[in-house]
Amino acid sequence: MAILVTGGAGYLGSHTCVELLNAGYKIVIVDNFSNSKPESLKRIKNITGKDFNFYNIDILNKDSLREVFSENNIDAVIHFAGLKAVGESVEAPLKYYHNNITGTIILCEVMEEFNVNRIVFSSSATVYGVPETVPILEDSTLYATNPYGRTKLMAEEIFKDMYKSNPNWSIALLRYFNPIGAHESGEIGEDPNGIPNNLMPYITQVGVGKLNELMVFGNDYATSDGTGVRDYIHVVDLALGHLKALEKVMQEPGVEAYNLGTGKGYSVLEMVSAFEKAFGGNIPYKIVERRAGDIGECYADPTKAKQQLDWFATRGIDEMCKDSWRWQSKNPNGYAKDLKLV
Ligand code: NAD
Ligand code: WQD
Repeated sequence: MAILVTGGAGYLGSHTCVELLNAGYKIVIVDNFSNSKPESLKRIKNITGKDFNFYNIDILNKDSLREVFSENNIDAVIHFAGLKAVGESVEAPLKYYHNNITGTIILCEVMEEFNVNRIVFSSSATVYGVPETVPILEDSTLYATNPYGRTKLMAEEIFKDMYKSNPNWSIALLRYFNPIGAHESGEIGEDPNGIPNNLMPYITQVGVGKLNELMVFGNDYATSDGTGVRDYIHVVDLALGHLKALEKVMQEPGVEAYNLGTGKGYSVLEMVSAFEKAFGGNIPYKIVERRAGDIGECYADPTKAKQQLDWFATRGIDEMCKDSWRWQSKNPNGYAKDLKLV
């Protein structure tokens, strides 16, 4: 019996694969490297000392996916594969709908063909749009403000319909808040292409000297210091949440959404200070205009995951910053380790 991990070479997938292997699961990874590098797979093996089957395929290719299911005894799927850049999704919505929605449908069709009906899906706190209140509960109003967010919302709806039509399905919809940090080895971590869109990789690249200064997007939000507040969660805590969700979908059918967050919000300037402590230097920044589409404050109520999955985050902000910095400083160019610092 094996767990299929789609998108397992990516940031969240690679960390989850490490925890799955450490826990004794047999895994099979599929990835098309559209936003990752083969090097991450080598490092998963180095960290764990364990091997796994890997298929360099696109989940849109149904025949290739069928081969994966016929060559391996798949018991459940953790589905990370997807495109995730909000701005790009506004520029290229069809690319996002095709990859994220059609990809998910094809995966589920093949699962049905092979009688595999347990899946853990990567959703996002983005499905809460502009939250009405914080902390955010799973039964808050759902809507999305951009095509990327709509792919997550639509996928959630598709999963709910699948369960209605066939109560053998067992589905966990994991709504991630803001994953940061890296494995404590510093061997795997977040490796964005080009200039990072997200706060932590931007800060770490300022730290390592690839970028000059952080642009803080607005200081006029209704928050303690005026900058945006988010629920940052250590990627290893997030990975461990997948193992708990997997246990749940193995136990009983159903479809449930869970917030994976810490329940605590930090502002951009608090994140800068926390990172400076881990880094031991200054991160220059300047306040600029708000970023279009940003919200002021967003953090989870993670009680449901604690009650139903027996999961809660244990790693705090200092550990998140320390681990992000270890990864970035050991790998200034991410997985492209042979390149000179650019
Ligand atoms: P990532 O880009 O690092 O990983 C996604 C992986 O999927 C990549 O390795 C990519 O090559 C692969 N992939 C994409 N489309 C594919 C396809 N059609 N066929 C095969 N492989 C494909 O992203 P991540 O940060 O690890 O995110 C994983 C999932 O979690 C995504 O679905 C993302 O939308 C979701 N998510 C991420 C965040 C975040 O902040 N990182 C937050 C909420 C939700
Ligand atoms: C965090 C805070 C910014 C960069 C995004 C997606 C979301 C989810 C996670 C996948 C905000 C501020 C940022 C910078 C800044 N992904 N910031 N300068 O926007 O909460 O969420 O990633 O599902 O869908 O929208 O994360 O890290 O981009 O921003 O001041 O250079 O940092 O304004 O307050 P966000 P982020």
